[in-house]
Amino acid sequence: MRQPIRAMVAMWPEITARLLPPDLRRRLDGLVTVVPDTPVTDFAVASAGEDLAATDVLITGWGCPPVDAAVLAAAPRLTAIFHAGGTVKPLLTEDAWQRGITISSAADAGAGPVADFTLAVVVLAGKRALPAARRYAAGHFPNHAQRVDGNDGRVVGVIGASRIGRRVIPRLAAAGYRVLVSDPYLDPADAAALGAELVDVDECCRRAGILSLHAPAIPATRHLIDARRLALMPDGATLINTARGALVDTEALTAACASGRIDAVLDVTDPEPLPPGHPLFSLPNVLITPHVAGVQGSELRRLGDFAVDELERFLLGEPLLGQVHRADLPILA
Ligand SMILES: NC(=O)c1ccc[n+]([C@@H]2O[C@H](COP(=O)([O-])OP(=O)(O)OC[C@H]3O[C@@H](n4cnc5c(N)ncnc54)[C@H](O)[C@@H]3O)[C@@H](O)[C@H]2O)c1
Repeated sequence: MRQPIRAMVAMWPEITARLLPPDLRRRLDGLVTVVPDTPVTDFAVASAGEDLAATDVLITGWGCPPVDAAVLAAAPRLTAIFHAGGTVKPLLTEDAWQRGITISSAADAGAGPVADFTLAVVVLAGKRALPAARRYAAGHFPNHAQRVDGNDGRVVGVIGASRIGRRVIPRLAAAGYRVLVSDPYLDPADAAALGAELVDVDECCRRAGILSLHAPAIPATRHLIDARRLALMPDGATLINTARGALVDTEALTAACASGRIDAVLDVTDPEPLPPGHPLFSLPNVLITPHVAGVQGSELRRLGDFAVDELERFLLGEPLLGQVHRADLPILA
């Protein structure tokens, strides 16, 4: 008789209750035998070591230590990892790819909240609500002649037709924005199908009154938005960064925002966290949020749902929706 599939859950215990709430955990228990019953955060402890020897699949999440050569050696039966999180890059060493372990990420399930956050910020940026709010707090209530900013006819630039970018573009198009997209891996027909016009990064900066970054942090995107490109952006433009801080030259952005020419809404910064007292915190045209655009709190369940669905597809021999392929890693988040 075939032995039941053994799974190990490896992630911070404090997020497990939200990622795998009781009903979802019952579903998981109906698919596989989870051992140990509680999440593992250190593969090196003796009990985890013993359990690893019998583990067929890992359900991982934030707080899971790297699945490196030593872990793989202790887990001879391991055939698949279902990551209830975004990027798998910090989770894996080359050894997992060499062994041919199936890797799945729930990044797709986490894209929606970032796209929704972006749309909300674009709407506010289109009205230049941020500097208006600060002026209001300083005693200035605008008259009708001073209310010149609006969203109709706004051109929004999207850098990166990533999983998130591909959700942002149709949301913007449906809301009536004219959308430009820049992505070296996209062709004009795909861009048009999404609802955007494909342009290069410089043209995107030049034409977009609102520029939103959705590319991964990889060598090719480091300081993609530097002093030269900030200078291309129209007066009064807003830069939105929900991607990664490294895409932007922080010093150049600080200077551009301090001049009052560019507004910025940053969910991510370089460095992150930004040190207390950093000049960006005190600029009236800059809003910095502490990396909240992605799934958090009640949204974490999306990742657990995706991972358990994916595990079920795997057990049924169906195609996976979140499989990560080694060859794609260099251009993925
Ligand atoms: N703020 C948050 O809470 C939060 C949450 C999730 C993801 N993120 C970040 O959002 C960004 C997008 O995440 P994702 O999962 O959608 O990414 P993804 O893995 O889907 O991105 C890969 C795609 O980016 C595009 N791309 C690659 N190189 C590019 C380049 N040089 N210029 C433009 N586009 C390029 C390609 O289309 C590629 O397929 C990443 O930086 C990610 O780290 C932030």
